[in-house]
Amino acid sequence: MKYKIAVIEGDGVGPEIMNSALEILNTLTLPFEYIKLDVGYKKWMETGEAISQGDMDILKKCDATLKAPLYTPSSKEKNFSSVTLTIRKELDVYANIRPIKTFPGISPFTGLDLIIVRENTEGLYSGVEHSVNNGAVTERIITKASCEKICKYAFNLALKEGRRKVTCVHKANILKKTCGLFRETFFETAKDYPSIEAEETLVDACAYKLIRNPSSFDVIVTTNMFGDILSDEAAALTGSLGLVGSCNIGEKHAVFEPIHGTAPDIANEGVANPIGMIMAASYMCNFLGFKNEGEKIRKSVTEVLKEKKNLTPDLGGKLNTKQLTNKIKEVLIQKYLIQ
Ligand code: NAI
Repeated sequence: MKYKIAVIEGDGVGPEIMNSALEILNTLTLPFEYIKLDVGYKKWMETGEAISQGDMDILKKCDATLKAPLYTPSSKEKNFSSVTLTIRKELDVYANIRPIKTFPGISPFTGLDLIIVRENTEGLYSGVEHSVNNGAVTERIITKASCEKICKYAFNLALKEGRRKVTCVHKANILKKTCGLFRETFFETAKDYPSIEAEETLVDACAYKLIRNPSSFDVIVTTNMFGDILSDEAAALTGSLGLVGSCNIGEKHAVFEPIHGTAPDIANEGVANPIGMIMAASYMCNFLGFKNEGEKIRKSVTEVLKEKKNLTPDLGGKLNTKQLTNKIKEVLIQKYLIQ
């Protein structure tokens, strides 16, 4: 039996780093069949549709999706909606898991190992906006059901991973209805997990503490936009946004991607750091039950980074994407595949 993996190559640096991830996966003996999907802004420019119902049906039929970043213009021209958000909502992958773990030798924050659990389908990214007189309104939708699901997910993950604490990050002092509901649900859920410490912090204080004392966090659970921003901030502690992979998990579907965007400033130069994408592939292996393979990928990445000499420019090195991928592949073969 083969697992069907939908592959979205993405925009900007997407195809470059996706090549790296597929090359690493193909080095291992995995029963994966890859189905490439062409979705996004370019397709929208050509056809008027960024992702078709047929594409969505394929995503839903696959066992997992491996996705590179997709471009979404910031200007309100042309009414283009983010394909990434559409996929997250349609597949109901409500939990966005972003492990922030430092690789030895790369970051001054040695041993940092926290997990950000971000609600992935609601909040300010619900896409409900309208213009009023001389302004505009964005609705921040927070439902009790989603709060329950994401808080439960965070505590279950903490239990599974042997974590000691879950921190609820909110702004309930100001956003009393939306963040208030999130906070209240968090503490209700916490009662079912007496062995895990439940604490709270306001989002602004959290942003500060992440820089001052990141090791004080273990698992963070938060709403959509706060999680998005805080995880980019936390990624800086690892040394580069290009190092962090993530999982989007729902009841029926799962999507794996790096946390960064299309990096337009370095696109087509072949110098993007592929590790976030490779780590996303490693998490996908774990999710599909190929834990040994996922672990071999993670260990190979760690080995290469530990030497401090095989780095892409974002980490102060001179290697390009392909060269770094080859180094990781070399270690994977030499250390973990040749018996
Ligand atoms: P970005 O994450 O693409 O880039 C921010 C900075 O990090 C840039 O300086 C970039 O060069 C650097 N960077 C990112 N990934 C890197 C890598 N692998 N190696 C080395 N350096 C890397 O954020 P930006 O510029 O705000 O967004 C660009 C586009 O990406 C936007 O259209 C946005 O909508 C999209 N985006 C897509 C996401 C997704 O598909 N999941 C997530 C975030 C943004």
